[in-house]
Amino acid sequence: MPYQYISLERCEGIAIIRLQRPEALNALNRQMIEELEQCFMELEADKKAGAIIITGEKHFAAGADINDMLEFSPEQARAFSFRHCFARIEAFPKPVLAAVSGFALGGGMELTLVCDWRIADKTARFGLPEINLGIFPGAGGTLRLPRLIGTARAKEMIFSGGTIKAEQALEYGLINQIAEDALAETIKTAQMLAGKPPIALKLAKQCISQAFDIDGVKAIEFESIAWASCFATRDQREGMQAFTEKRKPEFQGI
Ligand code: CAA
Repeated sequence: MPYQYISLERCEGIAIIRLQRPEALNALNRQMIEELEQCFMELEADKKAGAIIITGEKHFAAGADINDMLEFSPEQARAFSFRHCFARIEAFPKPVLAAVSGFALGGGMELTLVCDWRIADKTARFGLPEINLGIFPGAGGTLRLPRLIGTARAKEMIFSGGTIKAEQALEYGLINQIAEDALAETIKTAQMLAGKPPIALKLAKQCISQAFDIDGVKAIEFESIAWASCFATRDQREGMQAFTEKRKPEFQGI
């Protein structure tokens, strides 16, 4: 399907989604969010893409489009919410990675928080400047950021609206890695993940997500059931057989 504000490229077992609204530093408008959600729906049926990358070009995304929001009523603001799209990305059954250059602000930074893995280059700047607009992060930031970096750091970023550089983001645990070329490094990581057994990856991702939403006893029970179900897959046989035969496993996703 053709998109206006994003592009989708498939290459060597992975898919790359590029945010493409450079004239507004990739500020996320309604159509862009709808296209992003549509794109993830399209990718759910794509058996060949083992991992997905979201990236921008010079900038990742400078937040939700402020021009769109200027005259919103509370009802319109709620309808504009990114939560459905972001929930779909967060629950996507394959690894989703963010390759970040330049600004990842507001809703743009919150988009990186629904990804499983974040790699940035030295130009990256992260921040939640919403407070300076008379609002606060409304695309999951108040939940996902404290989970990732702790309440103290999250409050610091959300209350101050300040921006941090890649080095500080790494120190906070907000990103996984700083690379000379964020996209090239993210492609390498995505291809590494695409070579892992997809069912075990999907179940591990589900367990990690569930762990925060259900109580500890249920989380361990859920993990135990999901873990045991790996033994119904051929990939489990292949992984363990390959170990005993001292060769590299070839996973098929079954
Ligand atoms: N919405 C709409 N347009 C935006 C935008 C945004 N979030 N961010 C940048 N732009 C536009 C600018 O208006 C400008 O357009 P024009 O050329 O037509 O004037 C263009 O992108 C380039 O931006 P600047 O000239 O401002 O570039 P700069 O390098 O001087 O500054 C910046 C860059 C510091 C990122 C600055 O653009 C900025 O502060 N942007 C807004 C960041 C922000 O507040 N984001 C949070 C949005 S609210 C949100 O995301 C809500 C939520 O939780 C979901």
